[in-house]
Amino acid sequence: MNTPTVLVTGATGTVGSALVPALRARGATVRAMVRDAGRAVPGVENVVADLNDPRAVATAVQGVDAVFLNSPSAQDAAALQIRFADLARDAGVSRLVLLSQYAARVDSPVRFLRWHAEVEAHVRRLGLDHTVLRPNLYMQALLGFAGTIAQGWFAAPIGDAAVSVIDTRDIAETAAVVLTTSGHTGRTYTLTGPRAVTHGQIAQALSTATGREITFQEVPDEQFAAALTGLMPPWQLDGLVEDYAHYARGEAAEVYSCVTDLTGRPARDITDFARDHAAMFAQT
Ligand SMILES: NC(=O)c1ccc[n+]([C@@H]2O[C@H](COP(=O)([O-])OP(=O)(O)OC[C@H]3O[C@@H](n4cnc5c(N)ncnc54)[C@H](OP(=O)(O)O)[C@@H]3O)[C@@H](O)[C@H]2O)c1
Repeated sequence: MNTPTVLVTGATGTVGSALVPALRARGATVRAMVRDAGRAVPGVENVVADLNDPRAVATAVQGVDAVFLNSPSAQDAAALQIRFADLARDAGVSRLVLLSQYAARVDSPVRFLRWHAEVEAHVRRLGLDHTVLRPNLYMQALLGFAGTIAQGWFAAPIGDAAVSVIDTRDIAETAAVVLTTSGHTGRTYTLTGPRAVTHGQIAQALSTATGREITFQEVPDEQFAAALTGLMPPWQLDGLVEDYAHYARGEAAEVYSCVTDLTGRPARDITDFARDHAAMFAQT
């Protein structure tokens, strides 16, 4: 697949927005799938489709060589992804790259990891050229804490557990390689940063980058959930608490070399992320 045409789902999201330029830099033709024409991605072909609309999805996947399947934040995310994968196969798409998550397992106590494992199993059965990417916790998830970080602190129920957090730019650049080169069929790549860091170490990196003291505060699950109540639906909040319990048990600390192996350069460290995003954590 020399210069494939690639459909990017979640093209306005954290990974997708970095994947579009990464694919273009590798010579691929990109079709961005967006839900809202008003949020079209500049410089590439756009197609408007919601994963909830199978007719629009069936049109969106027509004529592309490969698809990048992002997971939407939805309670029925697994069913939506499975239907998308079926429609892609029916349209004759030859390659599907699935965004899953570190430690996806059918028997995981974390609902998101069970959902991802269900989609992975379905995609493996489809008979397409497929690759699964399992990224760990996104460094960019810290941007969700920017409000309190601007005030000098952030809190989560994770204790001193280390997590091999990854910059979403590295997920995108790795995905671009997988979508445009051969040799990845049937592979599952776990994507992590170059080391596992505690949230205390993340606070230190943010302090250094911003020149202000930023501290991490451990909070119990109940306090964390109470602070987020009303900001997201209950299923998502419960899932987030499960995610953090998994991190706190030290289950997301392993470091993998896939980013370097596939892109040929080191994965970004938390200090790189903090430096590049310092302005977004500025005091208001
Ligand atoms: N956050 C993490 O640390 C992390 C770590 C590992 C894996 N993951 C996985 O990555 C997934 C996505 O991450 P995220 O929460 O950061 O989201 P994201 O990729 O930044 O954003 C979601 C994207 O999906 C699009 N989208 C949402 N619902 C859609 C629908 N029904 N039809 C079509 N497109 C839809 C959104 O479009 P609009 O712009 O229109 O909203 C947006 O482009 C999660 O579900 C998670 O399982 C996340």
